[in-house]
Amino acid sequence: MIRILSIETSCDETALSVIEADGGTLNPRFTVLGNALATQAEMHAQYGGVFPNVAKREHGKIITELMGRVLTEANILSTGTIPHDRAQAALAELVREPEAQENFAYFLENYGVPNVDLICVTSGPGLEPALWVGVSFAKALAVAWQKPIMPVNHMEGHIVSVLLQSSTNATYTMPKIAFPAISLLVSGGHTEIHLVKNWNDYTILGATKDDAIGEAFDKTARLLGLPYPGGPKISAFAKTARDNNEKMSATLLKKIGEPGDDIVFPRPMIATPDFNFSYSGLKTSVLYLVKKIKEVTDQELDDVTKRVVARAFEDAALDVVITKTLRAAVEKKAKSIIVGGGVAANNRLREQLVARAKEKNSATVVLFPERELATDNALMIAMAGYFSYLRNNKRGIDSQKIVAVGNLKISK
Ligand code: KG4
Ligand code: ZN
Repeated sequence: MIRILSIETSCDETALSVIEADGGTLNPRFTVLGNALATQAEMHAQYGGVFPNVAKREHGKIITELMGRVLTEANILSTGTIPHDRAQAALAELVREPEAQENFAYFLENYGVPNVDLICVTSGPGLEPALWVGVSFAKALAVAWQKPIMPVNHMEGHIVSVLLQSSTNATYTMPKIAFPAISLLVSGGHTEIHLVKNWNDYTILGATKDDAIGEAFDKTARLLGLPYPGGPKISAFAKTARDNNEKMSATLLKKIGEPGDDIVFPRPMIATPDFNFSYSGLKTSVLYLVKKIKEVTDQELDDVTKRVVARAFEDAALDVVITKTLRAAVEKKAKSIIVGGGVAANNRLREQLVARAKEKNSATVVLFPERELATDNALMIAMAGYFSYLRNNKRGIDSQKIVAVGNLKISK
């Protein structure tokens, strides 16, 4: 059994956790001892998106406090002291993170080395200035506590996030996943399909050529005047439109030159033989439609129209990822389909993927992460870190060699 402290700062959530991991890749078991997360969503909502340097500053301000919180929750906050020269060397790791330094100096003066065996930190992909906060902080801890570090790929984190299921009071069960699996990763920054032969053995099959699906949700939301992050809001609007069978008025459909009784957006790349995606065209289609409606009505969109557009967008956006994931599952004879990333929280995706997988091949099990683990969190980083540690013969990586890499790829 090893005890892991994990750190995630790749985008706009600062997250830390403490877990115990055991069982290897064959029978992984995790116990959550502490878990904390601070989101910057409200701050970024003011600007309509995440600005890397704002994210960096906010991570720096709060990271030490969150660590204190998870160590306390895990009951391993240690009184004691760190030798002065080690504390100085640790603080030196944070020279480029001035927001973190003061709190961290205070922490080092007041607390000793906690009972953890490994520090895991997201090193990419993500926003580099944001990633560096976590990476530098992990290095500082490694120096202060003399513990090994393991850098973690954020996307591997999203894939393994399905391993913690059915939380009640933060108690989880671990499903046994049958391999090979196909993983669909859908977030604000990524739209990717991987072949997963085992925890630790990932091959990328395809990815988006331009925008990510979550980005398309966010941009469509912005066009409809809905605040960031747009995914949940678009999804709620689309649900209302579906539940009430709402339609755009016949007059409006005629005015915008729509021949049918509903608007339908294109499904870019749905029929290409690869597993790649393109979401920028879909966003542009929404933009043109919204412009056109404003032109012909000479006013802003009413709520029914917004909901109908949200439904048509969501149907188109999801149809493409579902179709390609199911095709990958058939081609690779997958026994499981694993979904991860912020968009995995989307209810319509959950329903439709399960329903369409059943139609196609009832033997493939479809797994989604718990909603709180679909978006960025530190538990998934601890679990992926455990597998990376096993892959590296139960050793950490030389701290000098660990760097934040914005476009880090998944590899074996
Ligand atoms: O994985 P995540 O938390 O951060 C990234 O690594 O990007 O994903 C955030 C993305 C945002 O684009 C957000 O709009 C989207 O996930 N999202 C959703 C839903 N909840 C979050 N998209 C569609 N439906 C949802 N229910
Ligand atoms: Zn993510």
